[in-house]
Amino acid sequence: MSRQAYRGAVFHLLADPDDAGPEAVCHYDDGVLIVEDGIVVEAAPWSESTLSALGGVPVEHFPGKLIVPGFVDAHVHYPQLDVVAAPGGPLLEWLSRYVFPAEERYGHREVAQEAAHFFLDRLLQSGVTSALVFATAHKVSAEALFEEALARNMRILSGKVLMDTNAPPGISDTAETGYMESKALIREWHEKGRLGYAVSPRFALTSSPRQLELAGRLLAEHPGVLLHTHLSENLGEIAAVHRAFPDCPDYLAVYEKFGLVGNRSVFAHAVHLTEAEWGRFGKAGTAVAFCPSANLFLGSGLFDIAAAAKSGAAVALGSDVGAGTSLSPFAVMADAFKVCRMKHHPIDAFRLFYLAGLGAAKALRIDSYVGNFAPGKEADFVVLDAAELPLLARRLAGARKFSEQLFARAILGDERAVARTYVAGRRAYARKVAAPPV
Ligand code: GUN
Ligand code: ZN
Repeated sequence: MSRQAYRGAVFHLLADPDDAGPEAVCHYDDGVLIVEDGIVVEAAPWSESTLSALGGVPVEHFPGKLIVPGFVDAHVHYPQLDVVAAPGGPLLEWLSRYVFPAEERYGHREVAQEAAHFFLDRLLQSGVTSALVFATAHKVSAEALFEEALARNMRILSGKVLMDTNAPPGISDTAETGYMESKALIREWHEKGRLGYAVSPRFALTSSPRQLELAGRLLAEHPGVLLHTHLSENLGEIAAVHRAFPDCPDYLAVYEKFGLVGNRSVFAHAVHLTEAEWGRFGKAGTAVAFCPSANLFLGSGLFDIAAAAKSGAAVALGSDVGAGTSLSPFAVMADAFKVCRMKHHPIDAFRLFYLAGLGAAKALRIDSYVGNFAPGKEADFVVLDAAELPLLARRLAGARKFSEQLFARAILGDERAVARTYVAGRRAYARKVAAPPV
């Protein structure tokens, strides 16, 4: 039994702040997070009696730093790191010009292993401890990610991509091989350590009806796995979906037809859903990954967070790298705020942290394990400071309220704001302190 205590300012959310109001917010200026064998014992205020109550438990003190739960990225493509910041769009042109050629290399185990290693290190550097990740259509690309995530004990959800239509041969499967390989991957990796499987048809345009039908069968056969795909991101894409599936009244109906819309489904984007689609989306208990940086970068459109909230859908933030341009949840939160502002629905700091934390964990159905410091949860946490960000430090010093400080962190932060990242109680990343000038 190994107990460890971490003292510093502590912030986490107990519930959705839109539902629970101020009761959702737990913040201690001077607090302590107690962890035992990788599990949260409690988060509590530090008091005069804490030290003696802890007995001989070692205490690591982070004065002036803020301890928060590990961030959750609800939609990201690890094989697209090599085409991040590729100019040219919109979506369909960008996919065929940059993304598909880059993904061809992921049939080679060494390529996938190196990229998975790099990717997970960058997530930890950004304070992200859980993510729902697209691999490529190559089985080995999912295997490499799972292997690397298992070695780091991270809560990572992924799956091989299904795509048997409208794609180059080097990144295509067939309906049957996609089904068989997904099944084999689920058997080997789902619920191994902290890993989970997501059946991952790329989107309606790159799967035949038979492949979508088999994706539905995979979901029905494996009650614990997720469904992860793209939906209604770009107007050209939507028009092409109407041409490819003329019997379906709208985009969502394509996925509904094959049993892919339910409370284990996570759809990236949903920028252009109609009112009717939102109504069905919410009723199905489905989740959406709002990817503001990607939507801005590709010029896809502005996500309507008010419509999403009204529908009752679970909403989470996704970086969507490589259409998104940063793995940092701070960059994504800042863009999310600006997109919501453009839609005349500005959101506050608590909502931003919810969308990048507990809310994202709920959307990915992993909130019984992670997302806050409720006793019994896995101790994924991040220590934030502004030592490497002088502008943020200045702004924090001038802020009177905690909510104002938190908002400044969301908008002005980047990976330099992450001093340490812990995964299940183990230190997985420590920022290097810059050498003094000579
Ligand atoms: N739609 C289908 N595939 C993709 C992808 O790789 N990125 C984005 N942003 N949208 C997609
Ligand atoms: Zn995507």
